Amino acid sequence: MSTLPQDAAAPAATERRKVTVRTIQARRDKGEPITMLTAYDFPSARLVDEAGVEMILVGDSLAMVVLGHENTLSVTLDEMLHHARAVRRGARFALLVGDLPFMTYQVNEEQALRSAGRYVQEAGMDAVKIEGGRSMAATARRIVTAGIPVQGHIGLTPQSVNTLGGWRVQGKTARAAMDLIDDAVALEDAGVFSIVLESVPEPVAQAITDRVRVPTIGIGAGLGASGQVLVYHDMLGLHAGLSPRFVRHYAELGRATGEAIVAYAADVKARRFPAPEHTYPMPEEELAAFRELLAEREREREQRRPAPEGGRRLIA
Ligand code: KIV
Repeated sequence: MSTLPQDAAAPAATERRKVTVRTIQARRDKGEPITMLTAYDFPSARLVDEAGVEMILVGDSLAMVVLGHENTLSVTLDEMLHHARAVRRGARFALLVGDLPFMTYQVNEEQALRSAGRYVQEAGMDAVKIEGGRSMAATARRIVTAGIPVQGHIGLTPQSVNTLGGWRVQGKTARAAMDLIDDAVALEDAGVFSIVLESVPEPVAQAITDRVRVPTIGIGAGLGASGQVLVYHDMLGLHAGLSPRFVRHYAELGRATGEAIVAYAADVKARRFPAPEHTYPMPEEELAAFRELLAEREREREQRRPAPEGGRRLIA
């Protein structure tokens, strides 16, 4: 059953095919913007997939928006896999990208390959994402060589929040912008199928996009990328706290959910819920028989009860 409104402009399921890395490249080659969203569980994956979004990222942002951590550093690969499996069950068409969490690929290439392999074998992901540019190019190449597509991620890389000194826009100086171009080119040479550009000025994103043949996917990179990605909870207003400047709230589901829960609790307290339409009927004759059986059982119970000391039990 579709969970989308009838008039939503998603392509009909019959016309759709599974999105692959070739589909994504073809979109970029045609100049058609690519859509990507995060999802972390079965219902969100189903909604994103049914809406026709081309790529779903099981992002390590789940550490913050789902698990309540202060940054992405503490989520483990096992936790990510648990969510990725649920996303797999909810998505039929989108290309699924599993985000390799902190310290599951930085130790050495063998560790990276093993972690990437788990996403494919244990969670059915189509690709993995790693953070880092030139320093991660050899790692990306090793994973790609084993047959697993890799998405790069440069600019603001949240797993390096401590070395970056906070959640800061990257590539704001001419030198830093040139470094980002070198990072993107190194990743492309390593064989990545696309590159996420996070929190970089639009002209820098555009320059990177113009210099690589693989698609770039922007988040906080303006229109300078081949496609866009947002965090599901951010775009739906489900994440409490400050939203980054680059987020557009397409709905305020956090507020709507809070209001709904307050209304439910008030209805329960006032006995307005459940109403007759929420209860299951019983045939009249069965109800009468049931009441008679209850009364009979009550009479039997009364008979079995010991008589009060020195007294006489009255049986009706
Ligand atoms: O984990 C995540 O959600 C991400 C996106 C911000 C690209 O890496």
